[in-house]
Amino acid sequence: MTQRIWNFSAGPAVMPEAVLEEARSNLLSLGTSGIGIMEHSHRGKAFLKVYEETEALCREVGGIPANYKVLFLQGGASLQFAMAPMNLLAKDRTADYLITGAWAEKARDEAQRFGSVHAACSSEDANFSYIPGECLFSAHPAYVHFTSNNTIFGTQFRSEPTPPPGADLICDASSDIFSRPLDISKYGMIYAGAQKNLGPSGVTLVIMRDDLVDRGPKDLPAMLQYRTHAKNDSMYNTPPTFAIYVVGLVLKWIKEHGGLAGMEERNQRKAGKLYSYLEQSGMFKPTARPDSRSLMNVTFVTGNEELDAKFCSAATKAGFDGLKGHRSVGGMRASIYNAFPEAGIDALIEFLREFEHQNG
Ligand SMILES: Cc1ncc(COP(=O)(O)O)c(C=O)c1O
Repeated sequence: MTQRIWNFSAGPAVMPEAVLEEARSNLLSLGTSGIGIMEHSHRGKAFLKVYEETEALCREVGGIPANYKVLFLQGGASLQFAMAPMNLLAKDRTADYLITGAWAEKARDEAQRFGSVHAACSSEDANFSYIPGECLFSAHPAYVHFTSNNTIFGTQFRSEPTPPPGADLICDASSDIFSRPLDISKYGMIYAGAQKNLGPSGVTLVIMRDDLVDRGPKDLPAMLQYRTHAKNDSMYNTPPTFAIYVVGLVLKWIKEHGGLAGMEERNQRKAGKLYSYLEQSGMFKPTARPDSRSLMNVTFVTGNEELDAKFCSAATKAGFDGLKGHRSVGGMRASIYNAFPEAGIDALIEFLREFEHQNG
């Protein structure tokens, strides 16, 4: 087999090797069924068992209370940008959005199609390099929406904002879901595209309190109502069966590695090593403010675009893929989600040191 290289992609991203191997072993026959995992009917016993196990593991690993639904939907987090306001924001109400990056802006733009939107805070003044400390909420927001980790700008909320009384908290956790312990009861809804911390692209996890599931207008298209998916165990239409299966394997891997507390410890150690190196470096500097730095996406620059480009090209040649930063920040970005191995961080630090030595 071709040697695997260090993959710092922001998503789809590296997966645990044990997961890939188990998936491979079930491609031609799921267990002893004689039918591969992708070939089973979603209505058949074999897949229903996979589905039930995945949902149960999700509840166990995520500590999801019984009064929350777990849904596996399609359309990515981007569809949730629209579905959430479509269901939860009446025309005469206002929703508050915390503007901490490009994905938060996209979510806000979709909400504006359905009702009024108020920006409760923004860090646009410093190219989204920090998480604002304070929010100014509107009088009675229907909900408060935030993006827990800003994939592009490398910032992350340390803990969830507290919404005003009566407003539900909605979170786009696409790039840090299940990377640390979560108190789900503080949220009305959490959603995340799977392709960074949970598995392959093609499935979106939605965790939603029961009363919100039933709040949406009943004249929306069936596929756009949460109740449709809740009533049908996410099988109103054909679900992304293979992606759901792999999410189950990833959840099993998380459980075997200490659950969310284990992930947090691992993620702090990995990101901590990289930030420590960058802090003392004479060439590379992190772009995010220290109190706002993400454990998932470490963004850094040399301060010289030509040198950034030289570094990225040398890194690619040396087997470090996906380190080029998003065009709106420039520089470099190391995406190091749950499954990214610590050995890859050590190798990157060694490479950074060597590059600095030769080019400093
Ligand atoms: C924080 C965040 N939200 C939303 C998205 C969009 O997700 P999707 O492509 O699943 O629609 C991304 C993708 O990178 C993201 O990082």
